[in-house]
Amino acid sequence: MQLDQINPYVSKVMPSAMRKFDHDISADKKIIKLTLGEPNFNVPEHIKQAAIEAINHNESHYPYYWGYQPLREAASNYYQEKFGYDYPAEQILVTVGATEAVASTIKALFKPGDAVIIPTPAYPLYNALTTLNELHTILVDTSDDGFVLTPEKVQQAVSAHPDWDVKGLILTDPNNPTGIAYTEDQLKALVPVLKEQGIWVISDEIYGELTYGQKHYTISKWLPDQTIIVNGLSKSHAMTGYRLGLVFGPAGFMDEIAKVHQYTVTAAASIVQYAAIEALTNGQDDSKPMLQAYQKRRDFVAKEMAEAGFDVVHPGGAFYVFAKIPTALHMNSWDFVNTLAKDYHIGLMPGDPFGDNHYVRISYAASDEALSAAMKAVKQLVVDHSTPTAE
Ligand SMILES: Cc1ncc(COP(=O)(O)O)c(C=O)c1O
Repeated sequence: MQLDQINPYVSKVMPSAMRKFDHDISADKKIIKLTLGEPNFNVPEHIKQAAIEAINHNESHYPYYWGYQPLREAASNYYQEKFGYDYPAEQILVTVGATEAVASTIKALFKPGDAVIIPTPAYPLYNALTTLNELHTILVDTSDDGFVLTPEKVQQAVSAHPDWDVKGLILTDPNNPTGIAYTEDQLKALVPVLKEQGIWVISDEIYGELTYGQKHYTISKWLPDQTIIVNGLSKSHAMTGYRLGLVFGPAGFMDEIAKVHQYTVTAAASIVQYAAIEALTNGQDDSKPMLQAYQKRRDFVAKEMAEAGFDVVHPGGAFYVFAKIPTALHMNSWDFVNTLAKDYHIGLMPGDPFGDNHYVRISYAASDEALSAAMKAVKQLVVDHSTPTAE
């Protein structure tokens, strides 16, 4: 077989532009990176100890593919208390990170040719997965609505594609890259059109614990029969490398998602599942110190970027500021991040891979020193490169 004969849907998907950019700029030993969504906190000590104990007790055998029962029970209680999720252990699947959770859910719910709405800007994973699964992707730009998806936009997306069967919506709340956290009213407003059109929601709530001064709501509360929730420990417990995700949804549908999961990965790693039991049993407050630090940094970065002339929609959650590049710079997002990396040794993410080439994303899950240096460099770049726009 020749390379041009392989699955065209795989050929269509490019390796992550974010990861490549991050890798490329890492060659600069002086670079300060605010690129990936990587918490700069260590895994809490009690969780690490649980992982070590699991190793010492030789917990090295194949786990049940749904995940260990005590973990599913701990997840049921934890998320009930935190966000009012209403799922017994039997409706919870343990996955290899939120990434595999989204991948297995998309594979199970949709068949080739179905259409899925992705509000943009969006985490690039989704578009890659809809392509790999031979789905139609409907990108819906939310920038003119303060980055919030409205029911009108959902209706327009359906009406604009009369030949497609619009089956799904991937909602990220709080959002990466914008940091927007939906209010109760904004979520409720979406429910009638989703019900009427029979659109399933994959609700990616991986940043659910990271909201600032506002409560996290889940759309599943008003749309339980059409929602699959994705969550996990990567952000709330700074456990990105452990790869522990969770899926919550209606009973019969969960069986189908679990099948895809089983035949793809068998199960999440045994040691990690023991660490997760500890996190979800005794780690209710683990995110508190992180939250305090993030909120302070968010306020600092949002203020500094606004002062530098960027448009910033104040983020209510996650750990990103998504900022619009001043027109006086005459730069798209790649020009901006390449110049900032090459000449000022600061790494930010271009908005382009998220679907908006006018913006940059700053991850403020970084030290205060790194953020101060980055803001100083951004301001200097603006001074060095601004030219008035011709009238
Ligand atoms: C919105 C969103 N979903 C999912 C993920 C992936 O999570 P995990 O590391 O648990 O696979 C990320 C990671 O940055 C994310 O931002």
